[in-house]
Amino acid sequence: ERGGFEHFMMKEIHEQPTAIKNTIGSLVSDKAIDLSKIELDDETIKNISNITIVACGSAWHVGMASQYVFEELSGIPVRVELASEFRYRGPILDKNTLVIVISQSGETADTLAALREAKERGVKTLAIVNVVGSSIAREADYVLYTLAGPEISVATTKAYSCQLVVTYLLALQFAFVRGKLEQKDYENYISEIERIPECIQKILDDKERIQWFASKIANSKDIFFIGRGIDYAIGLEGSLKMKEISYIHSEAYAAGELKHGTISLIEDGTLVIGILCQDNLYEKTISNMVECKSRGAFLMGLAPYGRYEIEDTADFVTYVPKMDKHFIGSLAVIPLQLLGYYVSVARGLDVDKPRNLAKSVTVE
Ligand code: M6R
Repeated sequence: ERGGFEHFMMKEIHEQPTAIKNTIGSLVSDKAIDLSKIELDDETIKNISNITIVACGSAWHVGMASQYVFEELSGIPVRVELASEFRYRGPILDKNTLVIVISQSGETADTLAALREAKERGVKTLAIVNVVGSSIAREADYVLYTLAGPEISVATTKAYSCQLVVTYLLALQFAFVRGKLEQKDYENYISEIERIPECIQKILDDKERIQWFASKIANSKDIFFIGRGIDYAIGLEGSLKMKEISYIHSEAYAAGELKHGTISLIEDGTLVIGILCQDNLYEKTISNMVECKSRGAFLMGLAPYGRYEIEDTADFVTYVPKMDKHFIGSLAVIPLQLLGYYVSVARGLDVDKPRNLAKSVTVE
């Protein structure tokens, strides 16, 4: 049942190229995105004044990464909220707000309650869900399914990746319908998204390097993931993967925020993982890595191929294929999933069923 893999998590990591391809295939044909199946018509898309994305855990991280893509491509202001906070905050919503809820299981109690709150307030709701027929899928006005297939491992991988891709396609379609993108650019972006599965496969083919590095750092006490923009959002996910299955304390920090407090935790040998996949932010984040290094940090860098100068700063580097800045997060997250996995295995832990956690959180 684990398809020859030792754990479901590794099996699911390897299923990502196919899961993403299937998910893209369900929404795209002939270089065009089709939302007519979910009856989200162009008039409704044109009228959206703002978007609020609500979710928990990794699904919230998808929201965090996608806000950059939505805002940059479509120009629609986006807010990303934890479902457990949204509910009690009395959020300001207007009749042209679109609330997007993201959930693998479709049963997360706080996300479901947030969806109900939005509906009660008369706001349009769109759900990105993996489990067909789940409560969230049944109750939302519009539903987009991720075609990840059943996800068994508590730590999400393939559902997260499929959710991310669905948000890219939504953002692109919103941008196109609202006249923010030329036909040619729209098609080019779609082609770029269609490259994601093969690029992920390339990263997976090189996984032994990550395994080797994981064995070196498996006894770390603390790990810091730093980055800016989408890189920061990917760091949030990398950090959660690490802590939930390896039980190593880790934090994701917006790189520029480190010196406002957290840098005092860096001591000799502390592992700092810098995510440097956003070209325009590279110099800024590298300078934060240098600051950590001068306080004794041990540095791992994650960057696109071609950024070889990173080796002057980082002690260990992992490269991912080059890709448009909006979508490269889908590649950057893969080595971090692998790292969390291999550290957990090296520590002899129960990878698929980490302590204190449940696959679906149906209590508040
Ligand atoms: O089923 P959902 O997507 O609503 O679940 C949300 C979170 O509980 C989930 O993403 C959790 O953070 C994962 N265990 C992370 O790997």
